[in-house]
Amino acid sequence: MSFLSATLSRVKPSPTIAVTTKAAELKAAGRDVIGLGAGEPDFDTPQNIKDAAVAAIDAGKTKYTPVDGIPELKAAICAKLMRDNGLDYTPQQVSVGTGGKQILYNALMATLNPGDEVVIPAPYWVSYPDMVLLAGGEPVIAQASLQTNFKLTPDQLEEAITPKTKWLIFNSPSNPTGAGYSREELKALTDVLMRHPHVWVMTDDMYEHLAYDDFEFCTPAEVEPALYDRTLTCNGVSKAYAMTGWRIGYSAGPVELIAAMRKIQSQSTSNPCSVSQWAAVEALNGPQDFLPVNNETFVRRRDLVVSMLSEIDGMVCPVPEGAFYVYPSIAELIGKTTPAGTVVENDEAFATALLEEADVAVVFGAAFGLSPNFRVSYATSDEALKTACARIQAFCASLT
Ligand SMILES: Cc1ncc(COP(=O)(O)O)c(C=O)c1O
Repeated sequence: MSFLSATLSRVKPSPTIAVTTKAAELKAAGRDVIGLGAGEPDFDTPQNIKDAAVAAIDAGKTKYTPVDGIPELKAAICAKLMRDNGLDYTPQQVSVGTGGKQILYNALMATLNPGDEVVIPAPYWVSYPDMVLLAGGEPVIAQASLQTNFKLTPDQLEEAITPKTKWLIFNSPSNPTGAGYSREELKALTDVLMRHPHVWVMTDDMYEHLAYDDFEFCTPAEVEPALYDRTLTCNGVSKAYAMTGWRIGYSAGPVELIAAMRKIQSQSTSNPCSVSQWAAVEALNGPQDFLPVNNETFVRRRDLVVSMLSEIDGMVCPVPEGAFYVYPSIAELIGKTTPAGTVVENDEAFATALLEEADVAVVFGAAFGLSPNFRVSYATSDEALKTACARIQAFCASLT
């Protein structure tokens, strides 16, 4: 009998972290690998945020804090939710955790019983299904398609809901596709939820500020106020504020749910890092003017990547509304052979060969629940992106 728990056998390690690790190993071995796998901005954390952290250290704010966040950060989060989303939350309705990941995990741990179902639109962020499994629930994957630019339709949502459904996990703009739901598209989904009062929505708004062109971000409780009492609005500072390593995420929702999440956190990590919380106060309350400046860079990179990948015969690369990912389809390349003699049987074989034969690291689509595709993160320099896309072009042209 294995010493390890049975629950562990239900989950797999994060494939995105695996790709990043493999690329780093090859680099360390002297290979000129370009990594397009990591989901984090290449920008530095803004100076005012770093200064706030240093000031917190100097002021001795280095002790345990209240379990789910210092009052100053909860106040900053309430102000942000009102300012950006028109949502009225009190500090008792707010929970701060060690990254957006812990917030989602706390919520699932606090609510799922064996057999409870969670609807997850695919392509999905890799961690959703495994977090549901770890929490004892059953992921129900609702497949979106390339034809709808990877967005779930109301009919697909309706079909996925059963009497056992507890949550819909909603993510826009999305990791891995960058797809963002317009207000009308989201309203069509919340209309479905209004017909199923037992279903709650966990909305992961992590990429809220990474929205481009004329796309306007919106979130379920704002689009359908009647869902307020069964919505957990989740967000964090990791992506927009280039603070992935600081580990601060947060959510707002009904007081009983927030209290249950607090109970879980009190018996796991106690509280998010004190210094990071003070940095997050500055991130949310301080100047926001660098956000549009960063977005100009992201739009330029997105357009570069989409145009170079779209030139490839057999590749279809939709233009995403936000985040820093593109998710091209390689349906027409499946079955071809690489110069080293590998048959590209699926998107995992494509990504493996691309890394081994062309020194570019991407994440294969099966990891995100929709194939045959792959995810490119364009949160890296223009120069690296140009070289990487030229390598992908040459690699695809060499397939026979
Ligand atoms: C959609 C989505 N949600 C949540 C997270 C987790 O964010 P954090 O680093 O704050 O835990 C990520 C990170 O990749 C993400 O892409």
